[in-house]
Amino acid sequence: MDLKLQGKRAIVTGGSRGIGRCCALALAREGARVCVTARNRPLLDEAVRDINAAGGEGFAVAADLTSPDDCLRVVQEVVDTFGGIDMLINSAGAARGGDILALPTEQIEDGMALKAHGYLRMSQLVIPYMQKNRWGRIVHIAGSAGTSPDRVNIPLSLANIAVLNCTRALSDAVSGDGILVNAICPGLTNTQRARDVQQAEADRQGRDVEALLREAGEGLPAGRIAEPEEIADVATFLVSEACSYVFGTAVYMDGGGRRGIP
Ligand SMILES: NC(=O)c1ccc[n+]([C@@H]2O[C@H](COP(=O)([O-])OP(=O)(O)OC[C@H]3O[C@@H](n4cnc5c(N)ncnc54)[C@H](OP(=O)(O)O)[C@@H]3O)[C@@H](O)[C@H]2O)c1
Repeated sequence: MDLKLQGKRAIVTGGSRGIGRCCALALAREGARVCVTARNRPLLDEAVRDINAAGGEGFAVAADLTSPDDCLRVVQEVVDTFGGIDMLINSAGAARGGDILALPTEQIEDGMALKAHGYLRMSQLVIPYMQKNRWGRIVHIAGSAGTSPDRVNIPLSLANIAVLNCTRALSDAVSGDGILVNAICPGLTNTQRARDVQQAEADRQGRDVEALLREAGEGLPAGRIAEPEEIADVATFLVSEACSYVFGTAVYMDGGGRRGIP
């Protein structure tokens, strides 16, 4: 399948690590021009080196996407460098879990500021450039916790369900302009952040984190948790020209764990 991504211009938020970094590399392998953005400069520089080595053209903007000014600066720098924007993958995330009975309000607010507001703000900023070309693709990395709440994951669940609502509403607003907006809802995925979150639980239980991750995977029909490259492959399809009739929806990538229909 020809994804027709050669020379297309992308922003990947959270592109320095984990799922975002895998998305940036997958786009680079297809010959795309990719801006990665996150806060930590050395990690961004590493990601740019990998993007260039993979056949793309990379550059990085260090930014805190909870800040509206930083979001605007990222988009302006990308437009100055690439001359426009064709694709946005939002993958920046940092929400922490915690028991709902003792959860500080700030923890919920932090999750919402970065994912719900940050994803929407970045979408609002890039859409005018996509409208100019009457073509664009936006993918939000949400998460299966959005529709499967539990008592220790409410900050993630609230941010993710907000992202799903924005996905649908944005899609309705811009699909007529040739801009397709979708979300991916990964289940537990093998990134450092997932390990850190599970480590806290492992410490609480006095157990080994590897055993916990293995058990989480064994409880799924897939028999294992996801690899970030698997999420990136689907994101790459969703931002490509090959994706022409999928929009306003969420792709669940949870190893068959979800019972809800659809
Ligand atoms: N891994 C999972 O199990 C899983 C499951 C479902 C959904 N997800 C979702 O997938 C997305 C990526 O998760 P991941 O596991 O790949 O996480 P990760 O490896 O920790 O990567 C998160 C990225 O977001 C960036 N980031 C964090 N706070 C930021 C801020 N304030 N401004 C700008 N960038 C920021 C990080 O860089 P800096 O820290 O340097 O800023 C990093 O590049 C998240 O939205 C997460 O909720 C993950």
